[in-house]
Amino acid sequence: MTHHIKIPKGWELPEHELTPESIFMNRREVLQAMGWLGAFSASMLFGCAPGSAEVTNAHPEKNLTPLEKKLYPATRVTRFKMDRRITEEAVAASYNNYYEFSEVKEDVDHHAQKLKTRPWQVEVTGLVENPKTYDLDDLLKQFSLEERFYRHRCVEAWAMAVPWTGFPLKSLLDDVKPLSKAKYVRLVSFHEPFTAQGQIAFWQPWPYSEALTVKEAMNELTILATGVYGHPLPKQHGAPVRLVVPWKYGFKSIKAIQRIELVDYKPKTFWNTLQPQEYGFTANVDPGVPHPRWPQTKEEMIGTKEIRLTQLYNGYSDFVADLYA
Ligand code: MTE
Repeated sequence: MTHHIKIPKGWELPEHELTPESIFMNRREVLQAMGWLGAFSASMLFGCAPGSAEVTNAHPEKNLTPLEKKLYPATRVTRFKMDRRITEEAVAASYNNYYEFSEVKEDVDHHAQKLKTRPWQVEVTGLVENPKTYDLDDLLKQFSLEERFYRHRCVEAWAMAVPWTGFPLKSLLDDVKPLSKAKYVRLVSFHEPFTAQGQIAFWQPWPYSEALTVKEAMNELTILATGVYGHPLPKQHGAPVRLVVPWKYGFKSIKAIQRIELVDYKPKTFWNTLQPQEYGFTANVDPGVPHPRWPQTKEEMIGTKEIRLTQLYNGYSDFVADLYA
């Protein structure tokens, strides 16, 4: 029988009980020490060396590489305030939109495990000075990861509050140096119809793609997330790397990104191509603009079913309102 010491995670506490950043930084060291303790006691019991377990491609959130063990959990940035309880991890991980795998949110988790997320590369190309292809580990090593608590508002009127781990998209763009004629950033996901059953629908504009203006992409809120809840992204959340733009409806936050292209035209995007009258290109959260089939004034938190009033730009006006002035 083993003993479990439960250290509450940052997101299990209401905002006013959250630890100051200095203590939060120690969380990593504490967890690392616990990891060693656990491995040590396991090796005493079973006579196997710590760290001998094979790292597999399945469940990246559970099978961390040595590099990931060093990086997660990342230090939390407290600049982005949270006004509600963080959604339970198990709830967020079992209610997902990922049309490549299923149209049934509760089934995505199961089907998404088929995607091979290692090795993984992200190509950054188009109107840039230094086009570059990054291996996932290059991204993790080159750009410093931080944790941010963000609200997420789906266009379907459900919402969640999530601790993402990632880095600003701006850092990546600064590295490749966009040319001044670049106006939009186009992000493209994978295309593997033999893996992702949803992509058998050849009449849909696969691969899933999304786009932002260069200014939106450079905004400090815009991140590429590689983790959530203090560990690497599980596949249903978009492993190994996804976009997070919290002031826009969730469909803009594209999962499993393989290519980022800087272009001088307004790109076609997945939902906007399929149903332009329902899913706009800009798609900023706005309670004043109803979806053609339902109002957008309220949202339901998944898990707790709490109803909240939807805020303009999902409550991020201070960061983004000037983009649309
Ligand atoms: N990315 C891809 N590649 N495919 C998708 O179907 N769905 C989007 C977005 N990113 C989607 C995607 C939608 S509609 C939402 S609301 C969010 O992912 C959901 O993210 P979550 O499952 O991590 O909560």
